[in-house]
Amino acid sequence: MANLEKRELLYEGKAKKVYLTSEDDKLIQEFKDDATAFDGMKKGTIGNKGEINNAISSYLFEYLENYHIPTHFIEKISSNEMVVKKLQIIPIEVVMRNVAAGSLCTRYKIPEATIMEYPILEYYLKNDELHDPMINEYHAYAFGHATPDEVRAINRIASKVNAILKFFFDRRNLILVDFKLEFGKRNNEIYLADEISPDTCRIWDKKTHKKLDKDRFRHDMGGVEKAYLELRDRIINA
Ligand SMILES: Nc1ncnc2c1ncn2[C@@H]1O[C@H](COP(=O)(O)OP(=O)(O)O)[C@@H](O)[C@H]1O
Ligand SMILES: [Mg+2]
Repeated sequence: MANLEKRELLYEGKAKKVYLTSEDDKLIQEFKDDATAFDGMKKGTIGNKGEINNAISSYLFEYLENYHIPTHFIEKISSNEMVVKKLQIIPIEVVMRNVAAGSLCTRYKIPEATIMEYPILEYYLKNDELHDPMINEYHAYAFGHATPDEVRAINRIASKVNAILKFFFDRRNLILVDFKLEFGKRNNEIYLADEISPDTCRIWDKKTHKKLDKDRFRHDMGGVEKAYLELRDRIINA
């Protein structure tokens, strides 16, 4: 990517900035230190989060590519930037849950850390104004966000990612509690997009259940940056 130029800002989100580049089909994702939670109600920053999340996300996308998961990742080009394929993002957040935490506990009155018999796949509409309401696949078809074939592809990729990453984290004495994925389309192909990081996953130490993810920020547990760094080192330097 030696001669890829960063051009105008396409979109600034809550945790990243997305830039056009000198190549039509490539974008640069720049990871910010900004953190938000509870629908943007809580705002703050986490020291070095941009670099940590870019490092973790780049590593995991590359890892998944080795298992033939189609991802938007092309190359990490600096501490807080990666080049990705430009996609048409499907405005659905796909959540996969292995262990009960967060909204699952409140919505269904299940104690945190309950191990589920079977992973749970959920869909939420990616719409801040509507506060990301939960939907099912029929909403996705009816609203024109994805076809049944596309939803099947998304489900297959999400389940495969879960199987791969569950073992990946288990080998590092970590529990993959849950995670959120985003997908995009290009030329009728579905790709895994966005990021995979402690902002978008819940990950606990296997023995102590110490949280190594954004829940530390959400619930003012302290040691947020330290936990993100610990997770990065346990993922990358294992
Ligand atoms: N490959 C891609 N092509 C186009 N858009 C992408 C791609 N990957 C991620 N995005 C979008 O870029 C934005 C990333 O910034 P983020 O801070 O996560 O935004 P948001 O606040 O909307 O979640 C998201 O809206 C995400 O859907
Ligand atoms: Mg986002």
